[in-house]
Formats: sequence, C-alpha cells, structure tokens
Amino acid sequence: MKALILSGGKGTRLRPLTYTGAKQLVPVCNKPILWYGIEAIVAAGITDIGIVVSPETGEEVKGKTGDGERFGARITYLVQDQPAGLAHAVKIAQPFLGDVPFVMYLGDNLIQDSLHRFCHTFKSRQLEALTLLKSVPNPKAFGVAEVDASGKILRLVEKPELPPSDLALVGVYFFSPIIHEVIADLKPSERGELEITDAIQTLIDLQKAVEAQQLEGWWLDTGKKDDLLEANRIILDAYTNCSVSGDVDTQSRVIGRVDVGVGTRIINCTIRGPVIIGDNCHLENCFIGPYSSIADNVTLVDMDLEHSVILQGARLENIHHRIVDSLIGQKASLKPASYRPKAVRLMIGDDCQIELV
Ligand code: G1P
Repeated sequence: MKALILSGGKGTRLRPLTYTGAKQLVPVCNKPILWYGIEAIVAAGITDIGIVVSPETGEEVKGKTGDGERFGARITYLVQDQPAGLAHAVKIAQPFLGDVPFVMYLGDNLIQDSLHRFCHTFKSRQLEALTLLKSVPNPKAFGVAEVDASGKILRLVEKPELPPSDLALVGVYFFSPIIHEVIADLKPSERGELEITDAIQTLIDLQKAVEAQQLEGWWLDTGKKDDLLEANRIILDAYTNCSVSGDVDTQSRVIGRVDVGVGTRIINCTIRGPVIIGDNCHLENCFIGPYSSIADNVTLVDMDLEHSVILQGARLENIHHRIVDSLIGQKASLKPASYRPKAVRLMIGDDCQIELV
C-alpha cells in the first residue's frame, strides 16, 4: 500500500496563523500536526508516502518535513495548484499512486486508534473503500454517513443541513485504485470542489464493496483554535515525559510531568505539568499551568500562562494577568499592561506585536 497525505488548503479557520504558514505545521505538543499522521502511517508499515501541498506553503512543508528519512519513509511531494477538493488532490496524485491501493490521510487530522486494524479490514475484506466514522455532537460540520447495522454505508452527505446520523467521516480513508475511475467522471459540487464524499457515494451507487468502521479512540480535526488546544491537551496528557535537559534554578518548582528542552533556562518559576517547553527558551518569574506547550526560543518573563500553545520565538513579558486558552504565533510579541483584567483569551498570528495599554 501507499499513503497520500493532504497538506494543502488555505487553512482559513486557523487564520491569522495560516496567513504565514501551513496549518498542518502548527505544532501540537511541540510537533507539527502533520508528523503525527506520517508516524501513524509508518507504524502501520506503509513507507511510500505522497504529500499533497499547495504552491503557497509547499516549500515550508517540504523544508520542515524533508524526504522522509527521519520517519523511516520515502516522501514524494505533489503540488496541487488550487484547493479544488479532496478528490482533486487524489486526481493530481494519480501518477504517484499508480494502481496500488492507498490510505488517504488529511494532514490536520489526529486519531488515537492505530491504523493496523483498519488496514487489516480493508485488505482482508477486499474492499474498494473503507471509511472511518466517529460519533460527534456537531455532524453538520463534516461529511456524514448513514450506515446499516452491519456497518455498510447506505449514504454519505457532505456538511448536511439535516444530518442523517451523528456519524462524521473522519479524514482517513482507504481506497483501491478503482477510485481513480470514479474521480475521472466526477463533477464539482455546489462549492465548486471535487468532493471525495461524492466519489465514495458513486462507489456505493455502483454497489462496490464500501464499508465503514467506527473509531474507538479520540479524533481531532485541528483546523480551528479550540480543536487545536484540545489536541494539545490530549497529546500532552498522553505523551509528556519528565525529562529536564535545560537549566532549572533552585528557586523554581517543577511539579508533575514537565519536559524541558536543551539550552532552556528557568528562573524562579512554578511549572505545573503536563507541560512541554522546547529548546533555548528563557522563562523567568512565571507560573506555567497545565496543558501548555512552549516551542523553541520562546521568552516568557513575569507572566502567568495556562492551557495555551506558544509558537517558536514568541516573546511575552510583564503581562500581569493570566493568559489562558490562547494560541500565540511565531515571533509574536506581547508587551506590558497597565491594567489588570482577570484573564485574556488570545489568538495571535506570527510576527504580531500587541501592546495592552
Ligand atoms: C473534510 C471532508 C469531510 C470530513 C472532514 C474531516 O472536510 O470533506 O467529509 O468529515 O474533512 O476532517 P473539510 O475539513 O475539508 O471541510
């Protein structure tokens, strides 16, 4: 099998961060979201991976992720010149995919389940398509499936006004090469895109072997700030170790599972895990509360932070109120306040400069 990861798109729901970078590279627990997908695919024994990128962010994705060696995989980059839909991405990837079955993985999705079980079902049942489903409170925001008791899909609808069930289509799909024939005849949807949902519906209409399996674990579609913070919380909870490589002075208290990277200095701080702090950071007189991820080269002085993600090179100083539920972009800078609200909630893009006066 091969794998196709979709890492294009405009990331409109994560603006302003995505004005300057790819949404799939925004880190969760200090690692780009995209890499979790690559690792899950490699763990399932698939090492020939195509990544579909956009002309705007392709170089960034490529520069950061490389040729796949670090993952034990071979990565081929495929440029999709316009965001014309998921099925369009498969279409442009056809020369790479050839006549080999493949798993398609949306680069901003994170799932807890390993792909092994699904690969096995797909192969052993000789399916033309296997989709993964998860019961969600807001099915209108997704592709939605109507299934019978045996797991057979009866109908799929993309972002329906009246969802036929609460089972959303997770952004991980398995296809046999027959999908290319269907996509070749597909017409754009009302929003002008070639929808993968329509392609799968065509397979169903042709009575091909299409099945669905429900996820057992969590699923996160990190396209929005709160979903990203939730992903960060879950991953920090599951994977943070207690490894302190940096320099923590005797005035500081480190409680619970806290990872501190190389070259980082922590002076007179209280850090209550789970928290991850990258390399070469400077933290002084801070309280860092649970579920915070602080990337490399961040400076935090005289401040109080909780349940937030701070990207590389950001600088926050003398903020005398607690920062919660926030996402702060790369090299953003936040200046002192002269008033003291109880808390602030922020989503700050890369290179922003904010002064609270
Ligand atoms: C896409 C699919 C949708 C699926 C979702 C999962 O939507 O079209 O069927 O449920 O991914 O993340 P998008 O996120 O592109 O709006």
